[in-house]
Amino acid sequence: MARTKTTYVCQQCGHESLAWSGRCAGCGEWNTLVETRVQPGGGGGGSRGAGAGRAALKPVALRDVEAPEVARLRTEVGELDRVLGGGLVPGSLVLVGGAPGIGKSTLTAMALGNLAASGARTLYVSGEESAPQVKLRAERLGEGALAVPMIAETAVEAVVAALEAERPQVCVVDSIQTLRAGEMSAAPGSVGQVREATAALIEVAKRIGTAVVLVGHVTKEGSLAGPRALEHLVDCALIFEGERERSYRTLRALKNRFGATSEVALFEMRSGGLTEVTDPSARFVDEATAAPGSCVLCAMEGTRPLLVEVQALVAPTEIVPPRRIATGIDRNRLSLVLAVLARHAGISLASADVFVNVAGGVRVDEPGADLAVALAVASAHRGEPPRGGRGPVGCFGEVGLTGELRYVGHPERRVAEALKFGLGPVLGPPAAEAVEGLEAHASVARALDAALAVRPVREAA
Ligand code: TYD
Ligand code: MG
Repeated sequence: MARTKTTYVCQQCGHESLAWSGRCAGCGEWNTLVETRVQPGGGGGGSRGAGAGRAALKPVALRDVEAPEVARLRTEVGELDRVLGGGLVPGSLVLVGGAPGIGKSTLTAMALGNLAASGARTLYVSGEESAPQVKLRAERLGEGALAVPMIAETAVEAVVAALEAERPQVCVVDSIQTLRAGEMSAAPGSVGQVREATAALIEVAKRIGTAVVLVGHVTKEGSLAGPRALEHLVDCALIFEGERERSYRTLRALKNRFGATSEVALFEMRSGGLTEVTDPSARFVDEATAAPGSCVLCAMEGTRPLLVEVQALVAPTEIVPPRRIATGIDRNRLSLVLAVLARHAGISLASADVFVNVAGGVRVDEPGADLAVALAVASAHRGEPPRGGRGPVGCFGEVGLTGELRYVGHPERRVAEALKFGLGPVLGPPAAEAVEGLEAHASVARALDAALAVRPVREAA
C-alpha cells in the first residue's frame, strides 16, 4: 500500500487526521486543519527510546562559542539597510510583507539591482509576473536592475534546484504565496503550502549561505500569510506600509534576529522607483500650517526623531453614534483621548464627528502621539489655532486615564528636533531632567489651557 505523504494537522491542538474536515476532531475548533507533509522516515516521531544509540552532545559555555564576524551584504538602499540592521546576513531569511501595490517588488528589485551592480551574485524568482513584466519594471529602475538574472517559476522544487545550481548570494522570491510544494494538494497561498515552501527555502538557504528575501502579501487583517504562520519561521520580518494613493511609504521591522526592531524607514514612490526620504521632518514641517485643528507631533520613529503634522476636524454629526475616523494613528488611542478630553478637560464631543489625520500618509504608532491628538481635537473644537496662530506648535506626551501627561522616551531629542525647525517652546510631560525648550505640564488640561486658554472644568487630581 502506498504511504500517505501528507496529513492534516490542527494548528490549535496538534491533532492529526488523514482527511481534511472543517472541524478538528481533537479540540473542536473550526478551520484549523492544515495540510502538512509527513517527513519520510518518520522525522516527527522521535519519542521512541529517546536518545537511544546517540552520543550525548557536549554543551559549550556561551563565552566559548565561536561567532564568526558576518560580512553583511549591503543593498545600498540606505534606509533598507538601516532597518535590516546593516544589510542582509548570508544564509538568513527576510520576509517583506505589505499590501498589494505598495511597492514590495520595486523595493526588492532596487536592492537586487544595487547588489548586482556591486558584483554580488543575485537571482530573482518571480511567481507572480512574467519575465517581460519584470523587465518593464526594471527598465524604470535603471541599468543595475536590468542586470539581475531571473526565473519565472512557482514550483518550490524547481526554485530549490535553481538555487543549488546558481548559488546566488542573494535571492528574492516574489511572492511566497505563489509557490507550491509538489506533493501538497492545498491551494497555493494556503497556510500549509506557504509554510512548506518557506521551510524548503530555509533549508537550502542555510545550506548554501544564500540570503533569501521572501515577498509576502498581507491579509485583510494585516497578518502575513495566515495566523503568524511565517513570522516565526524567518529571521527577519519587515512590513511595508502606506496608503496606495499617497506617495509616502514606511518600512519597519516586526522581528529581527540581527538588529533592532525599532528602526523605521521612510520612502517616497516616484516615477523612477522608491526614493529614500532622509529629512522627513523638514518636509512635514514645511507643509504644516498654523490653522485651527493642526499641531506638530514630535514623534520618535525608532532612534530617530520625526516631526509630523496632526490634523483634526470636529463637525456636528448627523448620525448616532458619531464618526470617529483616525488615519495614521490607532483608533483606540483616539477613543481614549476623546474620553479623557470629556472627563478631564471639559470638552465633550458626544454630538460631533471627529476626524484625525497624520498628514503625509505616515503612521505613528507610539503613545507619545496622544497629546498632539488632544491638542488638534481641542483646537478644532474651539475653532482656534494653538497659541493664537503664531506658527505651528510642537508637542508630545502620553495621556493617562486620570488626565495626567505621562513621560515618553527621549524628550530631549524630540525637543531638539522641533527647535531645529523653529518650533518652540514644545508642550510635553514633565521630564526628570530639565530640557531646554520644553514647556512641561502635568496634565492634559493644563497643556490645553496653556496652548488654547481652555478653562478646564475639572482639573486632574
Ligand atoms: P510594485 O512594486 O509592483 O508593488 P507590489 O509588488 O507591492 O505589489 O509597485 C507598486 C506601484 O508602484 C505600481 O502601481 C506602480 C508604482 N511604481 C511607480 O510609481 N514608480 C516606479 O518606478 C515603479 C517601478 C512602480
Ligand atoms: Mg509585486
